[in-house]
Amino acid sequence: MLLLLIFVSIFALSSSSCSSNSIQWNSKCYTLYTNNTQFVTAAYFCKNIGGDLVSIHDAFVNSLLNDYVSNHVHDVFKLDFWTGASKMFTPNTWTWLDGTPFDYNVWDVMEPRNATWANCTAVFVPSGKWSALDCTTKRPFFCQFPLVKPTGCNV
Ligand SMILES: *[C@@H]1O[C@H](CO)[C@@H](O)[C@H](O)[C@H]1NC(C)=O
Ligand SMILES: *[C@@H]1O[C@H](CO)[C@@H](O)[C@H](O)[C@H]1NC(C)=O
Ligand SMILES: *[C@@H]1O[C@H](CO)[C@@H](O)[C@H](O)[C@H]1NC(C)=O
Repeated sequence: MLLLLIFVSIFALSSSSCSSNSIQWNSKCYTLYTNNTQFVTAAYFCKNIGGDLVSIHDAFVNSLLNDYVSNHVHDVFKLDFWTGASKMFTPNTWTWLDGTPFDYNVWDVMEPRNATWANCTAVFVPSGKWSALDCTTKRPFFCQFPLVKPTGCNV
């Protein structure tokens, strides 16, 4: 009984902070928006609600997002999604909009296309591979939010 209580309270603590339609991992919440949206519009949308277009720094998060889309999206025109990787503001250099280092990538073969029209990056589902694309094309996107921990709590 006590164990069950502990389990329930841990579960409540860890799940209460991200909204129910978000994925929680490593002090971040990831929320998918399925409206097909231009890169810059998506970036502003995330900023305006206290987040950022998603940045990806390891294979685990790459598959977490990829699997989520595979399991939740059943419209083949809404599978690939924008990330915050772009070279729009930094000539010929890929950077994350949230300012974190560009320390990981899963470029598909023949990617990134080194074309000045291909300044933004989408993840293709289900391969999880990245492609450089025209930023004005419209796709779904993930925003990431910092997970706000309850104060005075040592978790
Ligand atoms: C998505 O589209 C719906 C319906 O048009 C709209 O209410 C909603 O605000 C849109 N969301 C985003 C993220 O653009
Ligand atoms: C792409 O980004 C570069 C800077 O890296 C910029 O010079 C170029 O104008 C951009 N292209 C488009 C289509 O926005
Ligand atoms: C684009 O440029 C980078 C850096 O110069 C290079 O590593 C990559 O192979 C190039 N991509 C293609 C498809 O040629």
